Amino acid sequence: MNQKPTKAEQELIAAAVQARERAHAPYSKFKVGAALLTEGKNVYIGCNVENASYGASVCAERNAVGNALAAGEKKFTRLAVVTQTSPPSAPCGLCRQVLVEFCADLPILLCNPAGEIVRTTLRELQPLPFQKF
Ligand code: THU
Repeated sequence: MNQKPTKAEQELIAAAVQARERAHAPYSKFKVGAALLTEGKNVYIGCNVENASYGASVCAERNAVGNALAAGEKKFTRLAVVTQTSPPSAPCGLCRQVLVEFCADLPILLCNPAGEIVRTTLRELQPLPFQKF
């Protein structure tokens, strides 16, 4: 069921692990790293960026989406998210909705630095998204 990661997935996870190390999370101390793989096999990373005005904080996943969009990419084939938890945490509701904007479904790997990997999908996490069409 939880099949071994491919080489491309391992590289994606490694990119998310590295991004997580750069998170700015002095308030929650909860660092998150995310990495998106595109159809063209490019990788775009994001980390959570917190702010003293807590509501101004942005999640790792949405920063990864922003980085990809800014580079002109929005066809995603995989998302890796790395948190410190066991089992690894899933993206929050806001990030799920933002991801749905670009892909109806997306394989997602929930990971932690200890090497745990839980496979899920965007459709599983956000089965009935808000849509205007
Ligand atoms: N966080 C993410 O980066 N991604 C999520 O999907 C949920 C939460 C961040 C926000 C905040 O900086 C910290 O984790 C604790 O909530």
